[in-house]
Order: sequence, then structure tokens, then C-alpha cells
Amino acid sequence: MMFPEYRPRRLRRNETLRAMIRETTVSPAHLIYPLFVQPGKGVREEVPSMPGVFRLSIDNLIKEAKECLGLGVRHVILFGLPEKKDPAGSEAYAKDGIIQRAVRALKDKVPDMLVTTDVCLCEYTDHGHCGVIVEQEVDNDASLELLAKTALSHAEAGADMVAPSDMMDGRVSEIRAALDENNFHQVPIMAYAVKYASSFYGPFRDAADGAPQFGDRRGYQMDPANSREAMREATLDVEEGADILMVKPAVPYLDIVSRLRDEFDLPIAAYHVSGEYAMIKAAAANGWLDEARVVDETLLSIRRAGADIILTYCAKEFARRYNGG
Ligand code: PBG
Repeated sequence: MMFPEYRPRRLRRNETLRAMIRETTVSPAHLIYPLFVQPGKGVREEVPSMPGVFRLSIDNLIKEAKECLGLGVRHVILFGLPEKKDPAGSEAYAKDGIIQRAVRALKDKVPDMLVTTDVCLCEYTDHGHCGVIVEQEVDNDASLELLAKTALSHAEAGADMVAPSDMMDGRVSEIRAALDENNFHQVPIMAYAVKYASSFYGPFRDAADGAPQFGDRRGYQMDPANSREAMREATLDVEEGADILMVKPAVPYLDIVSRLRDEFDLPIAAYHVSGEYAMIKAAAANGWLDEARVVDETLLSIRRAGADIILTYCAKEFARRYNGG
């Protein structure tokens, strides 16, 4: 069918028609809201490069979670700022570490909130790398045991799901084994399967105080130039027992989201990261973009590319708007 017989504009004439043929939707059920937790009481400190994002002490984390639940945001992912850092990142897997305490408190006070934990060492090591350092390099195999210990300690605290973000080879199977050996068969792993060495994480590293003290993460995170390699990474994580495959960042890597969608049957998540959030906020603060519309369009585009789940700092404001607020 060709013009003038076929006119695509016929079905765009009003919102009812447009809504009828809309192929993609976003709802708060698709979103995971990242939260930063730190020691102390009464702390609610805004992250300078991420307006609207706060570092919270556990008391305020509970308040925040209740508010989110009220808005229909029912899933959070937690990042922790420890009391102190050391070379082995020991607070990452301490029984009374900041995340372990936060998870216990959340599951106790806000049991309906789904709580996923980020599993990584970079916020807990004094050198800021995602594993242990041996001769100035991140040692893959030595890090696996600590990552598995971290994931297990989160599950013991009551985490509903664990999300390894370190990009060490073999960590998904190591974590799966540790969980299964300890009767946590039901705890899924959302693997940061395809995580690029991206400059878009800058504001997050302010928020979580996790910038590497020497070098960078290109020795373990993926080269932004590579797409076929993403398929190999995802294949490995599937074989090792991942339940959900994540791509990170989101918008600059929508081609990767779309490729994963085509090639894998597992649910796909995409992480709309701190730098993507900061760009929207900065432009909006200058009056250069309409924030609400840009956020809606961004989340829609990530879903259209094939993501089932979106991790985003915009979750709460999106939900408020979705509810008509
Ligand atoms: C920890 C981790 C990072 C992010 C999520 N988990 C930072 C990094 O890898 O440097 C980034 C999230 C964001 O930018 O919003 N490894």
C-alpha cells in the first residue's frame, strides 16, 4: 500500500487513536529505583552532581522506601557507603555492614518492597577497584570468593535478589554456588552481564565515593567499541546461571539492548546510569529541555529497544507523574 491510498497520519489524529496502536508502554512496575545508604542517623545529603538523589541513613531509607511504595515503585537496588574502607573491602561482606543492616531494616519495616543489592567491592576497597589487588592488578580469581561471600551475606540479611556489577570472569557461577549451598535457591541473580567501561558513571562515583584511586576499570569492564563481545559476555552469564541480563549504560548502548533482546530469552534489564540522569537534570535546570517529557521519552525508548526492566534515578518522579501527580 502506497500514498495516497495509505496515509499513516490517519491513525495519529487524536490521542485515543494513538493510544490504541501504541506498541510500547512504561509503568512503575518496570522500574528499579537505586538508593544510596550510609551510616549515621537523620542523614539526607543531596549528591551535588545528581540533583534529587540523596545519600540516606537507614532511618531515612525506611521513610524513602515507604514513600516509594506508596507511589507504586516497589523495587529498589541498594548501594552502600561503608564506615571504613580497606584493601580487601571487608565491609562489603561483614554481617553488620551497612548494606546488611539496611536490608534487614528494610525487609523488617517495609516487607513489601523488593530489595535487590548491588554486589561489588569498589565502594568498600580503599583503592576503589572492584576486586582485590595483586601486583597493581585486579586479581580475578582471588576476587571471586569475596564477591560470593558478599552476595551470600546480602541473601542472609534478606535480600530478594543480588546483582553482581564487578565484571570479574566466572562470578555468576561462584555466586550461584554459594547461594545454593546455603539454601538460597530462590534468590535470583540479575547479572550486570554487559557493563561497559563508561564515562557516564562519573556522578555515581561521587555519590558512592567509589572512584578508583589509580588506573581505571578498562581491564575488567567492556570496551565501548564492542558489540559481538557483548553477546559472548551474555552467553557466559546465561550458562553460569544468571536469571536476568543487564546492559549498562542504557541510552548510548540501545543497540546492545536490542541485540540481546533478539538473541536471548531471559528478561533484559538496562541501567539508565548516573551520567545519563545528570545530563537531563543539567539541561532542564537551564531551561533547555522539558524534563518530564524527556524522561518519559527516554524510558519509553529503553523499553522500545527491548528492555523489560529499567534501573533509573527517575523512577520516583516518573511514578508520581504516572499517578497523575
Ligand atoms: C559498582 C557500580 C557502578 C555503577 C553501578 N555499580 C560504578 C562503576 O562501575 O564504576 C554505576 C551506576 C551509575 O553510574 O549510575 N561497580
